[in-house]
Amino acid sequence: MTSDDAVEATADGTTRITVNGDRPYDVTIGRGILIDTLRAEVRDDVRKILLVHQPSMSFAADQIRQALSEGERQVLLAEIPDAEDGKRVEVASFCWQVMGQADFTRTDLVIGFGGGAVTDLAGFVAATWLRGVEIIQLPTSVLGMVDAGIGGKTGINTNEGKNLVGAFWPPRAVICDLELLDSLSTNERIAGFAEVVKAGFIWYPEILDLVEADPQIAIDPTSPAFRRCIELAIQMKARVVGEDLREAGLREVLNYGHTLGHAIEYNERYQWRHGAAVSVGMMFAAELSRLAGRLSDEAVERHRTVLGLLGLPITYRSSSWKSLLATMRRDKKARGAMLRFVVLDDIGRPTVMQAPDESLLFAAYQEIGE
Ligand code: GLY
Repeated sequence: MTSDDAVEATADGTTRITVNGDRPYDVTIGRGILIDTLRAEVRDDVRKILLVHQPSMSFAADQIRQALSEGERQVLLAEIPDAEDGKRVEVASFCWQVMGQADFTRTDLVIGFGGGAVTDLAGFVAATWLRGVEIIQLPTSVLGMVDAGIGGKTGINTNEGKNLVGAFWPPRAVICDLELLDSLSTNERIAGFAEVVKAGFIWYPEILDLVEADPQIAIDPTSPAFRRCIELAIQMKARVVGEDLREAGLREVLNYGHTLGHAIEYNERYQWRHGAAVSVGMMFAAELSRLAGRLSDEAVERHRTVLGLLGLPITYRSSSWKSLLATMRRDKKARGAMLRFVVLDDIGRPTVMQAPDESLLFAAYQEIGE
């Protein structure tokens, strides 16, 4: 895949990427653009806004509330717990209660302001209230900007598993203000970059070139190279979900590294960052591709180099294989599916491998075991 079709900058210094589909929408990227872009995106007839945010965003949420409270418009703040704690039905119920008490109508608006868990929950609340009200997503993490905030997958967890309840509900707009990333910890930015380099492995190798040219790339969100990587990753996601919202085919490529990655997250009781687990998962998928005779040694080494340069993990405990395999099988069964892995025929050429032989999986795991 080449990137010449990728992204276009506008005169005001923002970049706009359109996500196609039944209801096309724009992802706007820039620095210091949040309030102005949001003002332009909120329709004049919106009377109530539910602004769902995580605790660390309460100061900025209040600034948004003030900026959007014009005339008769009322902005309701719903502070929800951070991370997976926020993706519970009790939290959705709290949001529905706030909306019900405020006589929230079908022409009103939800805004999701936070990391991937917040945008997932806010999207689910918007998808379910009166069978669907509009949502604008304001992701505040790298992962949220390049992945969770785009593409309309919304949902909550149950005791039996993650994202078992949800809906496809594309947003009305997504605004990615890169300034919000300045205050994140380095580790968080690096973990988020795992999803960025995933876009490099499956779609836009230019991202890999940029990381190889500057291994510190994930550290500085003010640099043009950082922005370029984010834009390319967003463009990849926009193209994929624009073609296949409901994961009937192409969208599955976004799961590169995720089959094993999800099992590692579970095995670590969700104490590992998602991106770190996906990094190990991509290394595994690359080895699996190689052992299946699909991917060259050089392309596998490129995984090791790029992920290693960023400081992401590329190995995992050898002794954990049996429990990881059991978790992967259980997860697939819960979704009525066979074990499937996204693998590569080359960098930028993903495909799906279904029900691979257990001995092949074990051999690939031995390549990343420690
Ligand atoms: N995060 C994978 C997807 O949106 O399909």
